[in-house]
Amino acid sequence: MAYDKVEFLYLSQDDCVAAGGLDMKGTLKATERSFFLHGKGDFILPPKPVIRWGGEDSEETIGRIMSMPAWLGGADYAEELQSKIGIGPVNTSGIKFIPSKPWNPSKYNLPRANAVIIILNPETLMPDCICDGSLASAMRTGAASGVAAKYLARPDSKVLAVFGSSVIGKTQLLGVTSALPGLEKAKIFSPNADHVKAFVEEMKDKVDVEVVAAESYEDATRGSDVICTATMAKAPYINPEWWDEGVTHIETSFWDTPPEALTAPDKIFVDDWGQVKHHGADVSWRAVRDGFIPEEKITGNLGKVVTGEIAGRESDKERIFFNPIGMGLHDLSEAFRVFESAKEKGIGRTLPLWENYAL
Ligand SMILES: NC(=O)c1ccc[n+]([C@@H]2O[C@H](COP(=O)([O-])OP(=O)(O)OC[C@H]3O[C@@H](n4cnc5c(N)ncnc54)[C@H](O)[C@@H]3O)[C@@H](O)[C@H]2O)c1
Repeated sequence: MAYDKVEFLYLSQDDCVAAGGLDMKGTLKATERSFFLHGKGDFILPPKPVIRWGGEDSEETIGRIMSMPAWLGGADYAEELQSKIGIGPVNTSGIKFIPSKPWNPSKYNLPRANAVIIILNPETLMPDCICDGSLASAMRTGAASGVAAKYLARPDSKVLAVFGSSVIGKTQLLGVTSALPGLEKAKIFSPNADHVKAFVEEMKDKVDVEVVAAESYEDATRGSDVICTATMAKAPYINPEWWDEGVTHIETSFWDTPPEALTAPDKIFVDDWGQVKHHGADVSWRAVRDGFIPEEKITGNLGKVVTGEIAGRESDKERIFFNPIGMGLHDLSEAFRVFESAKEKGIGRTLPLWENYAL
């Protein structure tokens, strides 16, 4: 077959929503798929290049730009993926390009992060799809915490705490409540009380748990079975003495927990330790680098828990810490799910990359 033009499917954020991009149950499946295939080693994930205009802490003040290329397989696990997770393989590659500007929400009413995802045709490596990546990125970040909660939290968990009342805070709430149906209450905290109030108003009807504003960091942390941080905090505020026995703490943002506190958890999981080390800003890496814990205290990658190769939670008493850097595998898996659904439903615009090849 010879091509005389190259076209791709363009999906705006509205198209992604119409194709099921806000369906957290679907995102949970796509994200569990990428953890599973990561655990099986059926992926390629180069370390993500980051443009920074300062040290690692400048990401919260000046901003950053990350490129996240990935290939995700699944052909050899099609049956297992279907029976275990209810989703098929991916077998293609793509990239998420994600700049982040901390002042966008307050100065311009724009989201902090915006993203574009390209999904390639596996045969020609021409683009099959170019889509908004902001939605997929936020949804998969909530779903990654949901998958972590499914495998690491106590099944009888009742109370969730979410720190941060913005985009990623919302998807933490959606992801963890979808993954843990026994949850009854979610406590939300950020230093901006009006923001928290608006968050509670917006989210209370979107989940099956009571959503309330917490009064302080301590109030949110104490008595919570699962804790999610999704903030732009520039200094730590978590006191490990507030962690109850049996807690699962999911640190999605960077500076919330002091590195010395990582002596307290019984187990520490990450999504990909090599990536966490390479990025150099996550608290689990800083705790090792600065000598608070030995590298052996990092229990392992969550994907190996999902495949059953290593144990997750082994008792109701364990305090477990999960610190994901965020893998491009999740973005590809989620965008691929939405792309397949868009094709099936006839959503999106077919655009030419070229109609007459110029050279
Ligand atoms: N690991 C991952 O996979 C991953 C993926 C996406 C985003 N993130 C991280 O999630 C975080 C939140 O992203 P966002 O898009 O919602 O950001 P945002 O800028 O839209 O919102 C930040 C929130 O943090 C709150 N906040 C600021 N300082 C705080 C403090 N000291 N204590 C508590 N809350 C505070 C703000 O009030 C706001 O609600 C960022 O740090 C981002 O890097 C991680």
